[in-house]
Amino acid sequence: MEQITAGPKGLPISGNVLAFRRDTLKFIRDAAKEYGDVVHFRFGPKRHVYMLNNPDMIKEVLVTKQAHFRKGKGLQVARAVVGDGILTSEGKKHIRQRRLMQPAFHRDRIAGYADAMVRQGVELMEDWKDGEVRDIHQDMMKVTLAIITETMFGKTVKEGADKIGHAIDVGLKYVSTKATSFIDIPLSVPTRSNREFVESSEVLDKTIYGLIEERRKSTGSHTDLLAMLLSARDEDDGQGMTDEQVRDEVMTIFVAGHETTANTMSWIFYLLATHPEAEQKLHDELKSVLGGRLPTVEDIPNLTYVNLIISETLRLSPAAWTINREVVEPVEIGGHTYEPGDTLMMSQYVMHRQEKYFEDPDEFRPERFAGDLLKRIPAYAYFPFGGGPRICIGNNFALMEAALLLATIAQRYRLRLAQPDQKVELEPVVTLRPKNGLPMRLEKREQNE
Ligand code: HEM
Repeated sequence: MEQITAGPKGLPISGNVLAFRRDTLKFIRDAAKEYGDVVHFRFGPKRHVYMLNNPDMIKEVLVTKQAHFRKGKGLQVARAVVGDGILTSEGKKHIRQRRLMQPAFHRDRIAGYADAMVRQGVELMEDWKDGEVRDIHQDMMKVTLAIITETMFGKTVKEGADKIGHAIDVGLKYVSTKATSFIDIPLSVPTRSNREFVESSEVLDKTIYGLIEERRKSTGSHTDLLAMLLSARDEDDGQGMTDEQVRDEVMTIFVAGHETTANTMSWIFYLLATHPEAEQKLHDELKSVLGGRLPTVEDIPNLTYVNLIISETLRLSPAAWTINREVVEPVEIGGHTYEPGDTLMMSQYVMHRQEKYFEDPDEFRPERFAGDLLKRIPAYAYFPFGGGPRICIGNNFALMEAALLLATIAQRYRLRLAQPDQKVELEPVVTLRPKNGLPMRLEKREQNE
């Protein structure tokens, strides 16, 4: 089988790694434009990465031939933070954990989380003052962390939330750098980033083991995810999960379930601030559907424009901007055989901005999702939550949370850019976040506006 080598020329030893890191999003998008369905990158002397830009190939990797792959290096490195939880585990263990946790994310179950989502949105705004400038990204991190903690672990973390948020941040930055590096410095070497990482892990462990211990001692009855994890018994040997296993799952949900939604919310507010006509339509809808009252889960299907805004934001600024897989046994895709050790990269950022599927792909236009767009384009041209057996377990949770937070906040405040000509760059760390935060000016809205 012929070797695929079409891709940007790299440096002799490091290959494409420096160019990739310098301006990742531009680099991968330009490469897709130039080389088409498959682009070859080399990271260091031996690591071959193939970016697939064809929806049918992406479907083969995520769905039909998924058994030939394991998670990509980034997620393998992420084990340093989230351990061997549902996001990073493979094979039988993954299937078992997924089956165990699925009920907590069932549609009927998450409907019960709606009140907490709205209440946390309202509480966030209690600190807000008309006219002040705030880092909205920090606020979104705070509110999504509070929501995930309350709904999944039955606890509100008011004090210490900043510390947890910071510790997760350090962890993700560490993972992101490690994932593209080809020199492996062991954690025992006290470099600055290793030391910061070890410290942040200690903060997270302390918090989570504290949660577990408190719950094991508690006599009250609980039905949340933590209760499910603690009462789970293995089908074969009847054993429960160890504290360490529970810790890994809890950490996974903390990490996977908070930063992605926070980023999506930040991008929504940024895009609305730069598209006043869309913002006006949103306000009109909120007025006619809610008439000034707080939203409930029953309102969500009627908040049509809110839902369009979320779909379009996940297209333009997908919080998960790439999914990577590593080949474990030779596999043929699109006429080429990939070998064990090869990495296949499928980028939502690249696919969601392909002209052949999305007209004027760089434009923010929520209306594009109003018709049958998703039926007209191939499956996996748009895949903000991935697909196949490892599709995001929290997708419905996230969509509901985003709709309720947006409706709650936008009724009371209009968020303006702090500077009229402010540019906010997309920073692809593990997720796609606003580089340097998102300072915005709060403008209180009149009730009958
Ligand atoms: C807008 C918000 C979100 C986006 C864009 C998003 C995106 C994704 C994507 C693309 C994957 C698949 C990764 C892969 O195949 O390698 C994934 C997996 C996952 N997500 Fe989300 N996610 C979001 C919110 C959430 C929330 C709120 C939770 C939990 C409450 C969550 C929990 C998970 C978990 C546990 C997995 C691993 C599933 C498995 O491997 O079986 N996510 N997410």
